[in-house]
Amino acid sequence: MEHQITYAPIEWLGDKVRLLDQTRLPGEEIYIETDDYRVVAEAIKELKVRGAPAIGIAGAYGVALGALKIEAASPEEFRARLAEVISTIAGTRPTARNLFGALEYLQKAAQTGKSVAQIRNNIIAAAITIHEEEAAATHKLSEYGAELIQDGDTILTHCNTGPLATTGYGTALGVIIRAHEQGKIVKVFADETRPLLQGARLTCWEAQKAGIPVTLITDSMAGYFLNRGYINSVITGADRIAANGDTANKIGTYSLAVLAKENGVPFYIAAPTTTIDPCIVTGAQIPIEQRSPDEVTHVQGVSLAPAGVAAANPAFDVTPHKYITAIITEKGIIRKPYKAGIKSITSVA
Ligand code: MRU
Repeated sequence: MEHQITYAPIEWLGDKVRLLDQTRLPGEEIYIETDDYRVVAEAIKELKVRGAPAIGIAGAYGVALGALKIEAASPEEFRARLAEVISTIAGTRPTARNLFGALEYLQKAAQTGKSVAQIRNNIIAAAITIHEEEAAATHKLSEYGAELIQDGDTILTHCNTGPLATTGYGTALGVIIRAHEQGKIVKVFADETRPLLQGARLTCWEAQKAGIPVTLITDSMAGYFLNRGYINSVITGADRIAANGDTANKIGTYSLAVLAKENGVPFYIAAPTTTIDPCIVTGAQIPIEQRSPDEVTHVQGVSLAPAGVAAANPAFDVTPHKYITAIITEKGIIRKPYKAGIKSITSVA
């Protein structure tokens, strides 16, 4: 039976966008409604909307909002002003490829149309297409990925990769939700995912809503459970995948992949092809977002550490492709050698 998703992380309202504020979950289901692209940019920076596909979709709607407000006498003037909007959205978060792919798609849409009104309509239509295609891709990849899950499996996952992060089924969590819908008995172990606790706050909330049994663990417990045979597979999402399969995802993913290999447990990445960056040769070239140390020294505004202590806060790490058993995409499941597999699914037919 299909799981009905009862919350809408991102909605286009024609002249406004509505975002579910993920920083307030699970305590409060609060929506932000805005017609200002700068509010969308802040929401992305502050992780009110987050997860690679959702960042791309929200960014696209941000540009559409900006386009609606531009008053220009000519298409040239319109495009010049639009470039400022795109640059603001591009400056929000550097790692997720989906955001930059979406902005490139909108740039192309802005080149078509003879009048300001036509260009504006093309941009809005393009943003809606990005949303529909990202959501549809997660349905397809979840179907492929569910083949890798056996009845009775316990799956360890990291960060949050469900409908909240994608507006569709999800990536890693989408695969699990699909297996559950197929009637397989599945259990989830969710890493809490410090510093911002996307696993504890969001994955547990979404798993509960989907009726999937979930056990919350701290990030440092993963080795214990992998080593004792509790976990049948590890599945995570991705923010950017290089041409050789090296994958950037939420900080802590690399440690999980190494632990999985050490303990003979398959480690899968689930991501739409919009997360793949074929122009980047290896993971070393992926830009890694460095966030405020306050997110490490504090939890939800409460200080944990002595005042003035130095803290580091890289938001993502890179898992070398050798640790990845397979990459699940909407175009199928890719296995080693990744360079060839990635080339075949990202080349334009
Ligand atoms: O910092 P976040 O919460 O945006 O990080 C999100 C992740 O790392 C997800 O695993 C990734 O974007 C894949 S989401 C489908």
